[in-house]
Amino acid sequence: MTDYRVPLYRPSLRGNEAQYVLECLETSWISARGRFVAEFESQFAPKVGARHGLATCNGTAALHLAVAGLGLGPGDEVIVPTLTYVACANAVAYTGAVPVFADCAADSWQIDPQEIRSSITPRTKAIMAVHLYGQPCELDPILELAQRHKLFVIEDCAEAFGAFYKGRPMGAFGDVAAFSFFGNKTITTGEGGMIVSNDVECRGCDRTGAARARRRARASETGTGAKIF
Ligand SMILES: Cc1ncc(COP(=O)(O)O)c(C=O)c1O
Repeated sequence: MTDYRVPLYRPSLRGNEAQYVLECLETSWISARGRFVAEFESQFAPKVGARHGLATCNGTAALHLAVAGLGLGPGDEVIVPTLTYVACANAVAYTGAVPVFADCAADSWQIDPQEIRSSITPRTKAIMAVHLYGQPCELDPILELAQRHKLFVIEDCAEAFGAFYKGRPMGAFGDVAAFSFFGNKTITTGEGGMIVSNDVECRGCDRTGAARARRRARASETGTGAKIF
């Protein structure tokens, strides 16, 4: 029998990657700025239907920035799915807000809108809709619930770049969305993330807003030393 292995992930790096990395080394733009970061932000956001994008050091920092950018903190609750990556709950907890777990549907493995409904309390401020394994959540009922209860919707699109819901790309349905570009994601920067939004001022998606959100995040920080961008 042949020993055939299907890799969990294997990024394809056979384009211009090596040339661009060399350009970074030659120009010494190797950290958070430089032409590639700005180009990536401005080209990525429209691909997912958003007006603004801000690159971050990873997807966890993007989620953290999303929660902090919405001004959430102690006394607030954010509904997150039970089946997800740990960063979702952590990003909420980093700000001092409380992650409240809503169960997932047995057929889709995505957060169940019925469970969201029964998890809403007077402290609930946001719903984190995680499109796990590239499969969109049932967004229509989630957006309706959010509108009815005046809640923010944070989309976690870490695993969903390239996925569509009713013909629209994931990332611009809610108030803010976070992406990850870790090596096992649809596209990769090695480590990296992006926060996108259509609202430049309040959602921490320009550098001033992000700096404000970062200050807020730092003030309530409980465990992360991440440089957000
Ligand atoms: C659903 C989900 N959210 C958030 C993250 C966090 O992204 P990162 O690993 O870039 O911090 C991941 C990464 O695996 C993820 O799968």
